[in-house]
Amino acid sequence: MSEERAKGIILIGAPGSGKGTQAKKLKEQLGYAHISTGDLLRAAVKEGTELGQQAKGFMDAGQLVPDDLVIAMLEEAISTPEAQRGFLLDGFPRTMPQAQALDAAVTIDKVVDLQVPFDLIEERITGRRMSPSGHVYHVRYNPPKVEGVCDETGEALYQRSDDTPEMVRARLEKFDSETRPVIAHYQGKGIVVEVDGVGDPDEIFTRIMAVL
Ligand code: AP5
Repeated sequence: MSEERAKGIILIGAPGSGKGTQAKKLKEQLGYAHISTGDLLRAAVKEGTELGQQAKGFMDAGQLVPDDLVIAMLEEAISTPEAQRGFLLDGFPRTMPQAQALDAAVTIDKVVDLQVPFDLIEERITGRRMSPSGHVYHVRYNPPKVEGVCDETGEALYQRSDDTPEMVRARLEKFDSETRPVIAHYQGKGIVVEVDGVGDPDEIFTRIMAVL
């Protein structure tokens, strides 16, 4: 009996390009599992698991967590029954070894490359505020009704420790050196669609749905 491979979509783009924002909308529309390696790693850090302890220093320095740790975490995430029905990858793969491990395990239908000029990225990232439950705001573009308080849960909002201007620069350098080759790899397979990531999030979502 041949086992069917799970199918998925990759959302790729620079830090702060809007991958998480769009993945939430796509999950609602398509019913796919949303797998964010950044969210999984932050949860591991918060829970103080062994993975979290190993990952924390890299994340705080704006560096990538070693491939073997992230690949093992991803393999577990895509093996759930929910992911077998289809998944959206947000923040993975970011290096060529990660792309090769993914290609060996699943079928990727499309890679959505969210394009945002680097000069807009810093403002997006440094203005981001999060609730402990994972709701995402922006002080200018998507502010909560009451400053510093989550509309949905009433929790106090916080700023991610890697959302400082210095860390943004380190993360963008990693994107250039490690993740651009991943985009080129999938361009070679003819499955990359480029989407303008500047503008209203709902308009960007419409652009993505049009190319999927
Ligand atoms: P991760 O959490 O994946 O961070 P990232 O890729 O840097 O992406 P972000 O979460 O910063 O941004 P996003 O593109 O999701 O944008 P968002 O929608 O939030 O990774 C964090 C760290 O974990 C890494 O540095 C690394 O250490 C580690 N890690 C994770 N995956 C790894 C892997 N595979 N390998 C190794 N290490 C890994 O939007 C940003 C802000 O802009 C928000 O405030 C939002 O409200 C606002 N916004 C969104 N869209 C718009 C719009 N259209 N207009 C105006 N504002 C907007």
